[in-house]
Amino acid sequence: MGMKRRDFIKTTAIGLAAPTTIFGGSKLKTNKNDPIILSTWDHGLPANDAGLISLQNGGNAMDAAEAGARIPEGDPKSTSVGFGGLPDEQGNVTLDACVMDSTGNAGSVAFIQNIKHPVSVARKVMEDTKHVMLVGEGARQFAVSQGFEEIDLLTNESKAAWEKWKKKRRKMTPHETHDTIAVLAQDNKGDLAGACTTSGWAYKMHGRVGDSPIIGAGLFVDNEVGCAGGTGLGEEVIKTAGSFLVVELMRQGYDPTKACEEALNRVIKKHNGNPDFQIAYIAIRKDGKIGSACIKWSFEYALARGEQNKLHKIKGLL
Ligand code: GLY
Repeated sequence: MGMKRRDFIKTTAIGLAAPTTIFGGSKLKTNKNDPIILSTWDHGLPANDAGLISLQNGGNAMDAAEAGARIPEGDPKSTSVGFGGLPDEQGNVTLDACVMDSTGNAGSVAFIQNIKHPVSVARKVMEDTKHVMLVGEGARQFAVSQGFEEIDLLTNESKAAWEKWKKKRRKMTPHETHDTIAVLAQDNKGDLAGACTTSGWAYKMHGRVGDSPIIGAGLFVDNEVGCAGGTGLGEEVIKTAGSFLVVELMRQGYDPTKACEEALNRVIKKHNGNPDFQIAYIAIRKDGKIGSACIKWSFEYALARGEQNKLHKIKGLL
């Protein structure tokens, strides 16, 4: 059934009248002089420290977010990010990462192999190419052309874990592997930026790409409103444009935690109120208020603000 023209006009008028943004009325002040770094999981603590050092050395929000994300990427004990990340079902470590800065620029790499710091390659894509996203072999070639060293990302430990898994091929979900790091930063000018990096779902299908390199899914930054990042089952984050949704909800006036909750409620509803997987979001609003929520079990985020860098544990909505 087609929509009559008069109905269309009515719908459009209502659509236009609906949400007033909190920022249109500039009710919130931009947070300045109180830099914030907010990261997912406990690997967020050392990531935040690196971000703070970057800010102290004159870096901006983008420098801080990148510096933070590089820490678990280089740490073989972080088995869901970068070097030492658990491989796909064929034993290949394939990495996804993206960055977004305060000007709305973005860069991303997906399914990249043999490069330790995909987040920095993503930043190079943003700054030195006309593109937003490079994948696979093209991303690797670009990284090498930019001077990134090639290394074997599979450690003895991650190889042993994969060989053990291969015997039974048990289905893994991302929350079992601790997952992605998203790092959100606000510098002392009040500018926002973010970075996100992961080795993705452990023992995934070869070629699988998750939410972490998808702008609007694993990460989104709007310097007028706020920024958000996600961790958990990437497929479901992509299908709900999760981080973009969190930022848009903040634009409509949702408090950062309520925005994260509402974005997760949409996923929960799609799964008849009982999803069997985890997603968590973190968010910073332009005025410096932060928020977070997760679907179930629990989730930890690391928050660095002022002199303190602390881990905070939250319970799931279900
Ligand atoms: N959130 C990470 C992934 O699903 O790959």
